[in-house]
Amino acid sequence: MVIVAPSILSADFTKLGDEIRAVTDAGAEWLHIDVMDGHFVPNITIGPIVVENIRKKTSLFLDCHLMIEHPEKYVDAFVKAGADLITIHQETAPDSLPIIKHIKESGCKAGISINPETPFETIRNIIPEVDLVLIMSVHPGFSGQKFIPEVIPKLKEAAEMIKKTKKQIYLQIDGGINDQNADLVKKNGADVLVAASFIFKGKDYSKAIKQLKEA
Ligand code: DX5
Ligand code: ZN
Repeated sequence: MVIVAPSILSADFTKLGDEIRAVTDAGAEWLHIDVMDGHFVPNITIGPIVVENIRKKTSLFLDCHLMIEHPEKYVDAFVKAGADLITIHQETAPDSLPIIKHIKESGCKAGISINPETPFETIRNIIPEVDLVLIMSVHPGFSGQKFIPEVIPKLKEAAEMIKKTKKQIYLQIDGGINDQNADLVKKNGADVLVAASFIFKGKDYSKAIKQLKEA
């Protein structure tokens, strides 16, 4: 069974606690937290203070997606805030291995991500060292964008590489995921599906999560 990770980017921030409770009751196991710095991506969102407050209110697995330059400067703050997993972008850290090792030594799981236009080859060697590979299926920065199907071959390639490692490494897909493409991404190896607008912009969170799980 796949894991569904609702991204709070489309939640109502004026009642974030209620929104988190609602997706928990709806069957979510993870919570995806999109951290943006206005440099690597053209948007600014959430910092460690918000993660720290979320941590106090939930036992969901906190999946922090860092879309920021110089991630090495901030990983400790997210570890301290209570993140369970920290994913950094390969584009922001061409020498990602020391940062990945540091995250893991801090007691967190570590992930590596690539944008739609970034070749798979840039992360091939790091895959055996990570707990999660995140293939972006939109250009990062905003929720509510259209899924880019051209990333499917890359997803497949990542799945094949993960299989070769014989390690338990999650394969996450993020961007434009809905009931129409969940089946396709699962068939190509994704086992963690991130969704912001498909879940939070609908009325029935349970139904949306179920649709993604059962697609
Ligand atoms: C995009 C973020 C995604 C985003 C997904 O930069 O990393 O996690 O919240 O939003 P949807 O599911 O609406 O495409
Ligand atoms: Zn994300």
